[in-house]
Amino acid sequence: MKPSDIPHKDRLIVALDLPSVEQAEAMVARLGDSVSFYKIGYQLSYAGGLPLVRKLADQGKKVFIDLKLHDIGNTVARGVESIAKLGATFLTVHAYPQTMKAAVEARAGSSLQILAVTVLTSYDDGDLHAAGYRLNVSDLVEARAQQAQVLGVDGLVCSPEEAASLRKIIGHQMRLVTPGVRPAGAATGDQKRIMTPARAVAAGSDYLVVGRPVVEAADPRAVAEAILAEITPPLAA
Ligand code: C5P
Repeated sequence: MKPSDIPHKDRLIVALDLPSVEQAEAMVARLGDSVSFYKIGYQLSYAGGLPLVRKLADQGKKVFIDLKLHDIGNTVARGVESIAKLGATFLTVHAYPQTMKAAVEARAGSSLQILAVTVLTSYDDGDLHAAGYRLNVSDLVEARAQQAQVLGVDGLVCSPEEAASLRKIIGHQMRLVTPGVRPAGAATGDQKRIMTPARAVAAGSDYLVVGRPVVEAADPRAVAEAILAEITPPLAA
């Protein structure tokens, strides 16, 4: 699938990092038809947000469940089977071979796609060594991306800075989904390696995950529309 095959509006995924289902539903209502893809992570899932996945899907929205699963293969597989029934489009797992294999097998026959998180973007080489790894971040990201591809994983979550080099490794079949995106002038928050939407897409990103710059904005809809306008492909002459 080429990036141009992805419906334009789907390329912005708004992270519903909000403390309650009520606040999440109010945000979805405010964003209206400007946003078609939402991410639900730990905060909202553990605050009773998983039923919202089906509700959003029934409204024609797409949903990315960001739970970064990692456990023994059987447990991952049973979890993925349950999640596949919720109607979500993407689910994250950590990029360990057993975990990726179990998740890919368990999502077969459903429309759920598995995204692997190679190395968390908050980790640097020192953090990896402290956790017992001998590889540095870039080598581990590359090794895990190759393993993910061999195992049939549908896409990778990566920082925009990694997108260009990963694209060279994995080609164009797998999706690249990038958080750490900030419209020019927006507060960076705790994100360290950031890019503007246009640069992230130019680097090879298929989907941009943006949370706080949208959900904490005075006018969330205007920010979402501005991000989508920034990545609008030029009209063919
Ligand atoms: O508010 P912000 O735009 O920084 O939100 C980014 C979202 O992407 C958050 O939900 C965060 O958990 C998620 N994420 C990330 N970095 C990763 C993986 C996921 O920021 N490596």
